[in-house]
Amino acid sequence: MTAEQEQAGRAKPALKRAKKRVFSGIQPSGDVHLGNYLGAVKGWTRRQHERESFHCIVDLHAITVPQEPETLRRQTRSLAAMLLACGLDPKVCTLFVQGHVSAHAEAAWILNCVTPLGWLERMTQYKDKAAKQESVPTGLLDYPVLMAADILLYDADEVPVGEDQKQHVELTRDIAERFNHLYGETFVVPQPVIPEVGARVMGLDNPMVKMSKTFAHIRGHVVRMLDEPKEIERSVLRAVTDSGNEIRFSDDPEKAGVNNLLGIYQVITEKSREQTERDFVGARGYGDLKKRVAETVIAELTPIRDRYERLMGDPAELDRLLAIGADHARSIASPKLEEMKRKVGLTTQAH
Ligand code: TYM
Repeated sequence: MTAEQEQAGRAKPALKRAKKRVFSGIQPSGDVHLGNYLGAVKGWTRRQHERESFHCIVDLHAITVPQEPETLRRQTRSLAAMLLACGLDPKVCTLFVQGHVSAHAEAAWILNCVTPLGWLERMTQYKDKAAKQESVPTGLLDYPVLMAADILLYDADEVPVGEDQKQHVELTRDIAERFNHLYGETFVVPQPVIPEVGARVMGLDNPMVKMSKTFAHIRGHVVRMLDEPKEIERSVLRAVTDSGNEIRFSDDPEKAGVNNLLGIYQVITEKSREQTERDFVGARGYGDLKKRVAETVIAELTPIRDRYERLMGDPAELDRLLAIGADHARSIASPKLEEMKRKVGLTTQAH
């Protein structure tokens, strides 16, 4: 690459804004679980005051695997209620549904045309998901390009996600850099923001696999945000651990179950690693650990469940809030899309 090309392809410096801009999304497919909450949503709510935040219910991503239309509609509204119940404040951040802002799909098409196929075929989530399908929809392969469109349309500086989305955010950076290189500086190149703890909450039934909606049908795998306290208690008390009795953080795969429980406790209580371990000094074995973790999870989720129920009682209000969110999102995304079109030559006027 020549020095000139290098210069043209360099990351656009972060725009001078009073607050850093954040973009993140979550799919309205299946029930929201503790992994989504601890790896992503809890952090979004905590940082919304310090950042200009956009949070998106990504229905277009959800249809990359088969969805029953009525269920998808219901889950989209239900997810909005859940995110508000978790603490996203529509007066502070922008909460909207991806499919309500058509710029996302249009931008994705333009980005498709600068994204080499090989980049997409390398994505581990694509390989995992495609292996489970008899016939692979093109959308599944293209999923990360739509995600890049989501992020780049808003010139987001930061993308707070769990560990499993890191590769997609890195691909977004590559796509942004390639577009900037081909058409001149257009996009901010975003940073993934992965929490130190909680970035990979593991299944309670099997601490070697990530807690995931895909395995939600397996009893004791997930804690759903809407699970009753009794159900939460049952799942946590049954969590798979090891045959020892030492309650401490460890990289030893043998102790992955205990590590997971301590991590869950630490993110919820917002304590340090040392304080977390100290809290269990004198505990009698894993039974005590599980009991304490179950109580902590129940205490965290009960008020969220109550707020969720109240919010779901007024669907018209939820729809109103989502419409306001979409209007604001559009006011940022539309001019950016116009800029993209202009750069690529899709408008007859250059300026
Ligand atoms: P989704 O809906 O699968 O998950 C939403 C968020 O939850 C995180 N997460 C976890 N974190 C810790 N432990 C787990 N077991 C766990 N499971 C899920 C995910 O990392 C994610 O942050 N492609 C995205 C949605 C998306 C998006 C975007 C995200 C679409 N456009 C733009 C950021 C920016 C997804 O399917 O997330």
